[in-house]
Amino acid sequence: MREILLPLPGRDQSYRICLSPGLRLRLGQILAPLKLPPRLFVVSDRRVARLHGGPVLQALVRDGYAPDLLTVSPGERAKTWAVVQRLARELLARGAHRGSTLLALGGGVVGDLTGFLASIFMRGIAFIQVPTTLLAMVDAAIGGKTAINLPQGKNLLGTFHQPRLVAVDPQFLHTLPAVERLNGLAEVLKAGFIRDPDLLPRLASGRFRLFRDEGELTEIIHRAAAIKAEIVAADEREGDRRRILNFGHTLGHGLEQASNFRLPHGRAVAWGMAGALDLSVQLAGLPPAEARWGGRLLEDFGLLRPLPPLDPEAVLGALARDKKRREEGVVFILLRHLGEPVIQEEVPVSRLAPLVSRLLAGKPSK
Ligand SMILES: NC(=O)c1ccc[n+]([C@@H]2O[C@H](COP(=O)([O-])OP(=O)(O)OC[C@H]3O[C@@H](n4cnc5c(N)ncnc54)[C@H](O)[C@@H]3O)[C@@H](O)[C@H]2O)c1
Repeated sequence: MREILLPLPGRDQSYRICLSPGLRLRLGQILAPLKLPPRLFVVSDRRVARLHGGPVLQALVRDGYAPDLLTVSPGERAKTWAVVQRLARELLARGAHRGSTLLALGGGVVGDLTGFLASIFMRGIAFIQVPTTLLAMVDAAIGGKTAINLPQGKNLLGTFHQPRLVAVDPQFLHTLPAVERLNGLAEVLKAGFIRDPDLLPRLASGRFRLFRDEGELTEIIHRAAAIKAEIVAADEREGDRRRILNFGHTLGHGLEQASNFRLPHGRAVAWGMAGALDLSVQLAGLPPAEARWGGRLLEDFGLLRPLPPLDPEAVLGALARDKKRREEGVVFILLRHLGEPVIQEEVPVSRLAPLVSRLLAGKPSK
């Protein structure tokens, strides 16, 4: 089993990210050192619960736990205040108390929602992350950010609440749909772009067998998760260090928003990274050959399929919502070299307009 240790902010302690194929069936054993009460409140979405809930709960029972399952609808619509309240009431009805533990079994939605609930229920209780999507394994489950959405926008209510343990089992990914795999792959590629350029050729050469080669998949998840862990450990709250995680996300969010969130996150971020590579050549001295190689990699993974028709003004508007930001420019994470990010303050919107038009025309670089 592989382990990554993450410090608990403000305390002289750490928590573990444990990673191993088949771990979902040995969860009880890795939870043992935490000495949790046997009653565990497992929160999952109905799709994940149907596919994986049975074996996970049975394994917990075999190891002496008494799991109790609470479910929500699959997808982003579960991240609401109404769902938080409903879950809190259910927890109380089933006898949860200050010493209880929640276990998030699902993708980033379930992780964010359960973490948020755990952070406020009885002023904060313990929770465990068991991510079941690639995106959650390498990104959402690590770092202790929790959130729910408001009608005005995504992730507008949130807290920082670290899990007691993150248990990653790559075998969950056997059932993950292709589009969700791409969403996670975009984040894996991002980790390579900002921190581990050796990961990129490895991904390139193994891309056809990645999801069939358990050893390789485990190694790739381990490296990408370790990068996220290292960055958030250095900077638990949103500071300079953590900002490099936004590589590709500034433009990506603009594209997602302009598409009314119909464009899958992975493709939006991939186009955002292609745009950021192009901008890096212009503004940060990234050698054009490195940018071309990075762009080809994104294409080879099938992440740069043409975008749906989008209004360039809507994309630019999402990047610089108000007049002040339009004049002062937008903060971008760029690369000096693959693996060497720089924070570029104030990229003028006038500079972004031609780039956005090019991306929308399906051209990742000049
Ligand atoms: N907290 C953070 O730091 C952080 C970071 C990035 C993203 N996020 C959040 O994560 C969310 C996105 O996460 P996501 O992409 O995992 O989405 P998700 O949780 O909605 O999962 C995507 C879909 O895959 C299904 N699914 C999950 N695991 C499966 C499996 N093993 N087999 C088959 N189907 C499975 C789910 O039912 C869902 O329909 C967003 O809400 C985003 O805001 C949080």
